[in-house]
Amino acid sequence: MIIAIDGPAAAGKGTLARAIARHLDYAYLDTGSLYRAVGHAVMKAGFPPENEAEALKVAQNLDVAAIDKEAIRTAEAGHAASVVAAMPAVRAAILDFQRHFARQKPGAVLDGRDIGTVVCPDADVKFFVTARPEIRAHRRWLELKASGSDVSEAQVLDDVRLRDQRDSERATSPLKPANDAHLLDTSDLSIEASFGEAVRIIDKSMR
Ligand code: DC
Repeated sequence: MIIAIDGPAAAGKGTLARAIARHLDYAYLDTGSLYRAVGHAVMKAGFPPENEAEALKVAQNLDVAAIDKEAIRTAEAGHAASVVAAMPAVRAAILDFQRHFARQKPGAVLDGRDIGTVVCPDADVKFFVTARPEIRAHRRWLELKASGSDVSEAQVLDDVRLRDQRDSERATSPLKPANDAHLLDTSDLSIEASFGEAVRIIDKSMR
């Protein structure tokens, strides 16, 4: 059983995906963390994220178990992630890992931008989770603030818009809902309400 959850930055995908994985006792993969880890490692090695040769080298040698979960959450790592994620060779380098992860039993929940369209087009249930940009920026700003960042909310909103544009307009695996995805707009939904709606849809499609 594969559950694919796609959508733009800070739409609530991660929270929802983790809750669903816990509820069903499935494995969970945050695929954004893979791109963040690549972007972060490229910068840490002293290169700009635009350096494709370095990004590919890092992606091909990525040790997922060794990803520094805290270091990849910064705004800089998020920016670097969206740059390396636009490189087809980087995406190809981490595709097999994602597909292999998705096949585990009894099931897996993967969240990202292209899970339902490219990584697991045959996923059993697909969601496309969205929220208005201002709401997403506010959520991301609260997260960054809690982790000690002094970035302004306006800056975060600019960044959210820029990343939406880059994720949606890139040629390879752009952010778009799969034809058979269930759309879930979390702008005016609590975490509990979003989870309840998702579980209702999953239960219905498992029957
Ligand atoms: O969800 P996130 O903010 O952690 O994602 C970081 C970046 O990685 C974002 O710009 C989009 C990109 N990404 C992607 O292109 N494909 C995925 N499956 C997951 C993330």
